[in-house]
Amino acid sequence: MMDRISHRALDDAVYEALKNEPSRPGTYHIVTMGCQMNVRDSEIMAGALERAGLTYESERNKADLILYNTCAVRENAENKALGNVIWLKELKAQRPEILIAVTGCMMQEPGMAERVLRQYPFIDLAFGTHNEQELPALLLKKLQSRRRVVEVWDAPDGIHEDMPERRNSPFQHFVTVMYGCNNFCSYCIVPYVRGRERSRSPEDILDEMKRLQDRGAKEITLLGQNVNSYGGGGDQFARLLRRADELGVERIRFMTSHPKDMSDELISCFGELKHLCPQLHLPVQAGNDRVLKEMNRRYTREKYMGLVEKLRKVCPDIGLTTDIIVGFPTETYGEFRETVDLMETVRYDAAFTFVYSPRPGTKAAAMPDPVSAAEKSRWIQELIAVQQRITGEICAARVGEIVDVLVEGESARGSGSLGGKTPRGHMVNFPGSGELIGKIIPVRIVDTGKNTLRGEYMGPEA
Ligand code: SAH
Ligand code: SF4
Ligand code: F3S
Repeated sequence: MMDRISHRALDDAVYEALKNEPSRPGTYHIVTMGCQMNVRDSEIMAGALERAGLTYESERNKADLILYNTCAVRENAENKALGNVIWLKELKAQRPEILIAVTGCMMQEPGMAERVLRQYPFIDLAFGTHNEQELPALLLKKLQSRRRVVEVWDAPDGIHEDMPERRNSPFQHFVTVMYGCNNFCSYCIVPYVRGRERSRSPEDILDEMKRLQDRGAKEITLLGQNVNSYGGGGDQFARLLRRADELGVERIRFMTSHPKDMSDELISCFGELKHLCPQLHLPVQAGNDRVLKEMNRRYTREKYMGLVEKLRKVCPDIGLTTDIIVGFPTETYGEFRETVDLMETVRYDAAFTFVYSPRPGTKAAAMPDPVSAAEKSRWIQELIAVQQRITGEICAARVGEIVDVLVEGESARGSGSLGGKTPRGHMVNFPGSGELIGKIIPVRIVDTGKNTLRGEYMGPEA
């Protein structure tokens, strides 16, 4: 068990000193890359900065402090982060007073912080995922010393609770249930940059949910790299979900689930719990057993298909989504075709597909990888085309239905057009005005787009 560290009164002196520090930046902007974990971490760092007196600036280039929260999961994620940071050099030439800070999974890679700082001398502050709670103290140190501050911890010191936060939405929230990952899938850097699994107590999680509910939460997504091993595994996560369901928050979702730990107990929740949405992200990664074994996923295609069957039995309308890696080292075209075949059999609502990217320090990075990038790119195009067809068919079958939509905001089409999701997770766009945002309303599906639905609001009396 890891220590529980409460921040309720812990950092008061630091916040006070930072507030009164004459050279303190007035405004901040955070650029968040990567997954939901980072999104949640950024909410907490934003909360810490606001408690220290900084205010949020929506335009990056106008902010006095610019903080990058980076991702390391694939090489292109890293290149994107570095590409962004290079650009700041010019900004800093025009506005030398600004501060540039970098954190996130990339900084947690061994030797990476040093390398980045050597290459980009205009970065003022760097820290890792394990010491993000130190942001106020590190910023104070930077301001008082007027020197660059770099601090990356090798491991977390505990589970941090009662942190300040600035939530992105008033009604749609992430609640972290566990941190880290123990699975060491052979391609994946996450266990190296996020450390070993550690779970929050059910009381802390349920208290947080209750607080959000009291403030109007309509949807809560429970987060972890592998929520199925929450609390050490077994049926702990299913038990937590049952208690969460009793709170009465209208929509509950969770991610991500590892197929190897998907218990019957958890599957049955989809048939029983009133507020658990009929939607599950269940990354398969590959459809061939040899490749799955090399990936260290610890399930077979047959086991995975068995899970899909059980899920659909308890919840026939469940929407499944997945992650797939194309061109894992030594994967052949024939083996890849088994992934395409699995996709056709499962019929996912959506699939996130990635060309394999070697990550330094992982087992797969040392494997021979003879297939060319151009070849892999053809394979992934083939896969994407199949998924697009399936998504289109699934969407088309919804036309004519009336569904409950949680209105998230104006859609990409701009004002007068709203967007929101069905319980199953389909995005629906429809004409409507801003006062519907944050409400769950009945919408009739009238048409489909490429991977979205188009609808008509049925009015409050429907
Ligand atoms: N914990 C989650 C996934 C986190 S990373 C899970 O186990 O499902 C999100 C996705 O990125 C993974 O599911 C995988 O499909 C992809 N991914 C991870 N490492 C990768 C790599 N080295 N190259 C390409 N894709 C990768
Ligand atoms: Fe990476 Fe596997 Fe852990 Fe997911 S379960 S974060 S893919 S090591
Ligand atoms: Fe990226 Fe870190 Fe998430 S590596 S995917 S931001 S856990």
